[in-house]
Amino acid sequence: LLARHPRLPLLVGDTPVQAMLRLSDRLGGPCLYVKRDDLTDIGGGGSKLRKLEYLVGAAHAQGADTLIALGALQSNHARLSAAVAVRAGMACEILLSRRVPRTDEDYEQNGNMLLDGLFGARVQVYAGDADLMALAKARADVLRGEGRRPYIIPFGGSSALGSLGYARAADEIARQSAQMDTPFHHVVLANGSAGTQAGLLAGFHFIGDAPKVTAYSVLAPAATQAPLTAQLAQATLDLMQPGQTLSPASVHVDDSQLGPGYGLPTEAMREAVRLAASTEALLLDPVYTGKAFAGLLHDIRTGRFRADENVLFLATGGLPGLFAYRREFTAASA
Ligand SMILES: Cc1ncc(COP(=O)(O)O)c(C=O)c1O
Repeated sequence: LLARHPRLPLLVGDTPVQAMLRLSDRLGGPCLYVKRDDLTDIGGGGSKLRKLEYLVGAAHAQGADTLIALGALQSNHARLSAAVAVRAGMACEILLSRRVPRTDEDYEQNGNMLLDGLFGARVQVYAGDADLMALAKARADVLRGEGRRPYIIPFGGSSALGSLGYARAADEIARQSAQMDTPFHHVVLANGSAGTQAGLLAGFHFIGDAPKVTAYSVLAPAATQAPLTAQLAQATLDLMQPGQTLSPASVHVDDSQLGPGYGLPTEAMREAVRLAASTEALLLDPVYTGKAFAGLLHDIRTGRFRADENVLFLATGGLPGLFAYRREFTAASA
């Protein structure tokens, strides 16, 4: 169902699924596993590479020579777009907004910002309320005027085309589950621009006895994010096989971990990051996986995930964010 869409292979093989034995033990169940999509092969790794396989595949097919990516100042997606451009022999321009109200030196210059520069991307920074897509289109016009062939990557890589990367990942998870002889009852992840969850839902649609997918929103209230995710999952399904209908009941978005908003730390996130690091040496990030893991911990402690179930946490990356949010984790804030 995916084969007719051009794909630039960026991952080498399946990402590992690991048991989190110490943490499962500490919490008294369920059996926790982690899928290490943070261990993908390019540019520091992360989930966005799966979406970029299809997006850059399309860009290539159209003869593009320049990628344009958008995001917040510490965008993992923009950083990985810049890295992929290097590997694909393309130029990359990044348009970033100050949507997170942080101006400390680590946030402005470390983490993903440092890496964007190393990958040689042209980085432009705008105000928090800037319309980045309008700015990207204007910039693409200028580039075309200079004889270049730009390709604008949608926000977070979350178009139906980008989400195909996670439909493919759903198949990978089902295969690994069979190989391990371990049924995953739940897959748990962060929802930002919705493409990861949407892709998984589209992929699992074709798989019998698929896990229930639960995502913790880090960007917007569930009332906004759930219908958006359902729509995107349906559009992804339409790209795979027209005529299929995604059940809206399969879309579970929980906004209990959003806190004061996107990119703004919560105490539960700090506890989750510390617990994952100190029990499993698993490095989460402050913006996405830290909040999703906080939701998982909360729902284990309150019995939403049962002790006899197998739960797979999707580690989507974002490690550079830890360095951008250094002061959240220094001794003084412990
Ligand atoms: C590390 C990390 N995890 C999760 C997500 C969320 O994925 P999506 O935007 O597809 O919901 C992102 C998106 O930027 C991310 O960078």
